Amino acid sequence: MTGKNYDSAEFQNDNRLKLDLTYIVNALENEPFISCDELDRLAPRVIEQHRKLNDAEGDCLDKDTPMLGWLSLPEELTDGHLDAVQEAADELAGKVDVFLSLGIGGSYLGIEATIKALGHTYANQLPRSKRNNRPEIYFLGQNVDPDMFVDTLNLIEGKRIGVNVISKSGTTTETAIAFRIVRKLLEESLGDRASEFIIATTDRVKGALRKLSEQKGYRTFVVPDNVGGRFSVLTDVGLLGLAVAGVDIREFVAGFRAMKQRTDTDEFWANPAMLHAAVRHLSFEKGKRIEVVATNSTALYQLTRWMEQLFPESEGHRGYGLWVSPSMYSEKLHANGQMVQQGPRLMIETFLRLRDPEQQEAIPSDPEDADGLEYLCRAGLDMNAVNQLVIDGPAYAHFLGGVPNMTIEIPRRNAFNFGQFYFLMERSVALSGYLAGHNPFIQPGVEDYKRAMFALAGKPGFEQQGEKVREAIANMDHVIVD
Ligand code: PA5
Repeated sequence: MTGKNYDSAEFQNDNRLKLDLTYIVNALENEPFISCDELDRLAPRVIEQHRKLNDAEGDCLDKDTPMLGWLSLPEELTDGHLDAVQEAADELAGKVDVFLSLGIGGSYLGIEATIKALGHTYANQLPRSKRNNRPEIYFLGQNVDPDMFVDTLNLIEGKRIGVNVISKSGTTTETAIAFRIVRKLLEESLGDRASEFIIATTDRVKGALRKLSEQKGYRTFVVPDNVGGRFSVLTDVGLLGLAVAGVDIREFVAGFRAMKQRTDTDEFWANPAMLHAAVRHLSFEKGKRIEVVATNSTALYQLTRWMEQLFPESEGHRGYGLWVSPSMYSEKLHANGQMVQQGPRLMIETFLRLRDPEQQEAIPSDPEDADGLEYLCRAGLDMNAVNQLVIDGPAYAHFLGGVPNMTIEIPRRNAFNFGQFYFLMERSVALSGYLAGHNPFIQPGVEDYKRAMFALAGKPGFEQQGEKVREAIANMDHVIVD
């Protein structure tokens, strides 16, 4: 227990996420990009979508299930459940050197993002004692790249390995291949005891992984029916891996709960989820197609990758949606920054600003001043002060260049703040889908690539399609420069 009182006004004020819309609503060449009046005009529609989501109305079904479990989860998770997750995580973490988390999409991104956001940049390379006595953590099953896969296996050879295989459907090819290989390795080295080192997180009753877990006697955790993959970081999908990594899962839940309460209001201007959704919706209506999501914190970079899934997979229906482009600044300012400033005016930009990093690094004074940096020292600016300018400078310059932008400020790296952040984004994207008039909880487009892959791989049941696909590809004009 940390002894923090997450419900106290003092803690919440100290850890309040801020949404800054200055460079959205101010005038560029006499016209604000989105005026407060326009936001006011959209507000009744946003409030109506907010009500519909809360009342489980609208287009939210996946097959027959309303996919709104994520909305009530922060208030429904019990201490008993969190204890059970913590106990399983501690038990596994205590007996292994390496924890492998296998999964893709929503069964992967949130776990990695949170662990990276909270941990040391080089956590796996640190001695275990400096990692809170937790195992090294690696992610597999998010790609099928044999080089990376085998490199990872080589790296962990000879170490005691624990696995959490995560798949709601239980049939996702990438994850299933990774699991088959890892399972074989464990069974070869441990025989029947392999199952003591494997946890499966999957559907409560159905699916191939559920069946296999029952046959093999794996300990299992559940992906709730009514929570889609990309909304599942607060379910066992995220909680178990985070607990293995030593993340305070109670603090994480408290963050979700606090943001849920903050965004429950139907007062438009007090609700950051409604405002965030409204700005992004109007941006699309005004012809913007790309959202550059840039952060000044390496730790937060993976959050931008989580957003890269959450938003496009939920919004990208019927020609609608903003393409999310994750960016780390300053690095990217010296890469695609030119295009952001002067390329096609199709972009908005969202900054994830980390206000207080954990470390402070002074810039040493040098009277010779050959590099011309002494002015920073004279002004008392340390590395973090300059790192804040990595947002302040581009925000102003890009605004003048015709890229309206907003900033989400995260005060510091703690589990509470990332919990708040996730819930804010989840609620915003749900509103966004409703505003666009589609179901943000399904991803029928993703099935198309799966069918094409199954057809080409000759999966039983796809033989005929396989022939058709091969024929169609063979009949195309092949322009290949050899
Ligand atoms: O958001 C989603 O639903 C997807 O990204 C899934 O999480 C992803 O496809 C993995 O699916 P599964 O957990 O069934 O293996």
